[in-house]
Amino acid sequence: MPHLNKKVYLETYGCQMNMADSEIVLGLLNEKGCVLTEDIEEADLILVNTCSVREHAEQRIYGRLGEFKSIKNKKPEIIVGVLGCMAERLREKLAGEKAKGVGEQVDIIVGPDEYRKLPELVAKSWHGERGIAVQLSRIETYDDVAPLRTNGVSAWISVMRGCDKFCSFCVVPFTRGRERSRPLASILQEVETLSSRGFKEVTLLGQNVNSYRDKNYDFADLLKFVAEVDNTIRIRFVTSHPQDMSDKLIETIAEHKNICKYIHLPVQSGSDRILELMNRNYSSKHYLNLLGRIKSLIPDVCLSTDIITGYPTETEDDHRRTLDILENVQFDGAFMFKYSPRENTPSFKMADDVPDEIKASRINEIIQLQSKASLINNSKHIGQILEVLVEGESKKSSSEWYGRTGGNKIVIFPKSNLTAGDYIMVNIERANSATLFGSIQKSIVLEDAA
Ligand code: SAH
Ligand code: SF4
Ligand code: F3S
Repeated sequence: MPHLNKKVYLETYGCQMNMADSEIVLGLLNEKGCVLTEDIEEADLILVNTCSVREHAEQRIYGRLGEFKSIKNKKPEIIVGVLGCMAERLREKLAGEKAKGVGEQVDIIVGPDEYRKLPELVAKSWHGERGIAVQLSRIETYDDVAPLRTNGVSAWISVMRGCDKFCSFCVVPFTRGRERSRPLASILQEVETLSSRGFKEVTLLGQNVNSYRDKNYDFADLLKFVAEVDNTIRIRFVTSHPQDMSDKLIETIAEHKNICKYIHLPVQSGSDRILELMNRNYSSKHYLNLLGRIKSLIPDVCLSTDIITGYPTETEDDHRRTLDILENVQFDGAFMFKYSPRENTPSFKMADDVPDEIKASRINEIIQLQSKASLINNSKHIGQILEVLVEGESKKSSSEWYGRTGGNKIVIFPKSNLTAGDYIMVNIERANSATLFGSIQKSIVLEDAA
């Protein structure tokens, strides 16, 4: 394999899995001599790591591919590669002989399980060969690949890939393939390396981390081992599925100071009829009982969720039940989406019969109710002194820093003599529904934290 002396520009869309995959892709290319550039104009290779979860996500990427076309018109030798979930789902459309418009300027198409082939496909594409690799794997976890991380404080680690849940609306089982876990020993080794390099936060990723398994070890075991590598590293994880979140996992979170007291637990709907149609395998009662156990074992836990509104056949009564569950739980945050029909999913066979105006009015109601809950929960922090991991300069003001609490809340505070990766105590003085604001108390390390 020749040395690839090329500059690569990479854009990432979609979930944190894709962020983690992009670092793997860069690791693989870097090993073969490619260097990363932030400037698309000087790139030899443009890669876009894509998401298919909703129609809107794909439309954005089509828009971007249109823009790359004009770059390619100016610099015809540039190589454009589409990676990730859209590459997997739309390979024929993107690669078809007669591909017109968007497909035309795409030279390489690589699905999420075939990144090891990317350097070779890039090398070949310089000789005019179009490259496509979209096989899904039952074993690939990239456990031996060193990701190229550009952030020195927070790291993502995919502990498993794929999904076997087959929620009826979801394209992920088709774009990411079957569930498989990365060996525990290789994860621990990576966390040790991150610790020695001074990282302060690790997020374990999986579409449903509760399915993690390596021999007799489950996700709770993995979480415990990871947390015990270095107690100055904060540990987070996403996502848990409400169907199979165990008490052992909740207890493990409660017992370890450096496992963040934050759980993202997508409920999707408050209506049992809709949950059944969605193939979520739990009822609203099961969900509320689970939250009851979580709150009793972890009293200061922060909770967030995902909601889909306008699923086929959703009535006003179903919608009320979603509002009821939001009202009842008072989540700290929520990601709220209008249902988007995805080809080949079971729901796709059902008519998308909730008109867009109704989806829009329902989602507005949901957003308004949720932002009230977020504001109430955030306001409860006023007067508290919270431990914050400093992440960087505030996006809105160069005289302020931002960081996050263990509960995953963004905190803004005046700049002082700090660097990203420092733990500080912040006195919370003000809050809105998205952010906390405060002033620094004193600089401390995690072991001394209250
Ligand atoms: N594995 C995660 C979610 C991955 S997708 C889980 O089970 O929670 C992230 C979120 O996108 C989902 O929780 C869901 O709320 C939303 N989503 C997925 N498919 C969708 C679709 N077809 N239309 C609208 N929202 C969707
Ligand atoms: Fe999609 Fe359901 Fe799997 Fe999440 S658990 S990725 S929503 S199929
Ligand atoms: Fe999107 Fe694929 Fe993630 S569809 S949400 S990038 S797994």
